Amino acid sequence: TGLVTLDEGFVNTGSTRSAITFLNGEEGVLRYRGYAIEELAANCDFVEVAYLLIYGDLPNEAQIKEFREGIRDHTMIHEDMRSFYNGFPRDAHPMAILSSVVGALSTFYQDSMDPADKEQVEISIYRLLAKLPTIAAYSYKKSVGQPFMYPNNSLDYCENFLHMMFATPANEHMVDPDFAEALNLLLIVHADHEQNCSTSTVRMVGSSNANLFASISAGIGALWGPLHGGANEACVNMLEQIAADGGDVEKYVRMAKDKTDGFRLMGFGHRVYKNFDPRATIIRKSCDKLLAKLNLDDPLFKIAQQLEQVALEDDYFKDRNLYPNVDFYSGVIYRALGIPVQMFTVLFAIGRLPGWIAHWSEMHSSPSKRINRPRQIYTGSTEREFKPLSDRN
Ligand code: CMC
Repeated sequence: TGLVTLDEGFVNTGSTRSAITFLNGEEGVLRYRGYAIEELAANCDFVEVAYLLIYGDLPNEAQIKEFREGIRDHTMIHEDMRSFYNGFPRDAHPMAILSSVVGALSTFYQDSMDPADKEQVEISIYRLLAKLPTIAAYSYKKSVGQPFMYPNNSLDYCENFLHMMFATPANEHMVDPDFAEALNLLLIVHADHEQNCSTSTVRMVGSSNANLFASISAGIGALWGPLHGGANEACVNMLEQIAADGGDVEKYVRMAKDKTDGFRLMGFGHRVYKNFDPRATIIRKSCDKLLAKLNLDDPLFKIAQQLEQVALEDDYFKDRNLYPNVDFYSGVIYRALGIPVQMFTVLFAIGRLPGWIAHWSEMHSSPSKRINRPRQIYTGSTEREFKPLSDRN
């Protein structure tokens, strides 16, 4: 097959040049546009970080004001889109709903089909950032049979999402600032992670000049898988299972080492981080702080800590450099915020959206952009003699 080199799972293949996120897996370093994730998490709000990722620099006051106002202008979804939700089964997974409704945005905004139309792309970016929390909260409201809550533009991004999730027409629901702060931090640490599976998907789909909504919808599908963003939901399900099983963490570590049943410790291991995941360190601290502040004694947090300790001392995990990743503790925080487990990966999608947009835009502004089209090593039959149907046994 000539010059084709095989790299299954793209372990060593750079698919693009990118100036967005720097990641050093050995040292546990993560920077967005040159800024350390720890510093951004401590000092910024998510909308500022979204601006940084998409436009390349931290905004000044005038820029962030305009950006926030632009987002606020688009927080509602078209009234006709509300009726989509009636067509989904009550127990539909919210990631399936999210991907479908985001894909359907291209049926409402038909002017936004051309990735080269800068003005339309700009409006689409605002629409996506503004509408994703609304679309997500409506999927939750549908699952619990409550009326949809319109966005409240006097609230900030995270507060507004919590308002749409938990307020009802009968009960206004005052958003707890600690909850909004914890959510803000989670969204920031999820906001970009270079060429991960969903971001590569967004680039792949976008490389054919498919529109932004179609590309993001595909990225949401990729994120859903339990080896990627779906690991936060899978991790809490696993912790619950361990709790129901009497809290025997050693047993689950043994199961994870046994290759026959395919069970893995969810929230452990990473393709690039081989020392520690800096996002996990930030989230663990925030988790500790939030649970203490709320005076919550979540048994799952204790199980997570015990599981981490046992696994980190085990040669199997040491030899393979397997550490807790971003998904290991995030679910415990989401639980403390009252977010149902099926919504965890949806929260990841809201966080990752600016990263996806930044990569899609970067790809389209690159002079060397080409359609992404990997090759393969063919392993099928050599040429075979064709037999008419009547001669086949
Ligand atoms: N539990 C037990 N064994 C594991 C685990 C785990 N969580 N992760 C990796 N291994 C083993 C794996 O079996 C293999 O062993 P061996 O060398 O004996 O065959 C070795 O470690 C290397 O694993 P790999 O599957 O070749 O590594 P990868 O880079 O292809 O996969 C991963 C990375 C994140 C998919 C994997 O570690 C995993 O499945 N983790 C659990 C799911 C998870 O937490 N995903 C979230 C990732 S971070 C956030 C995100 O991307 O969304």
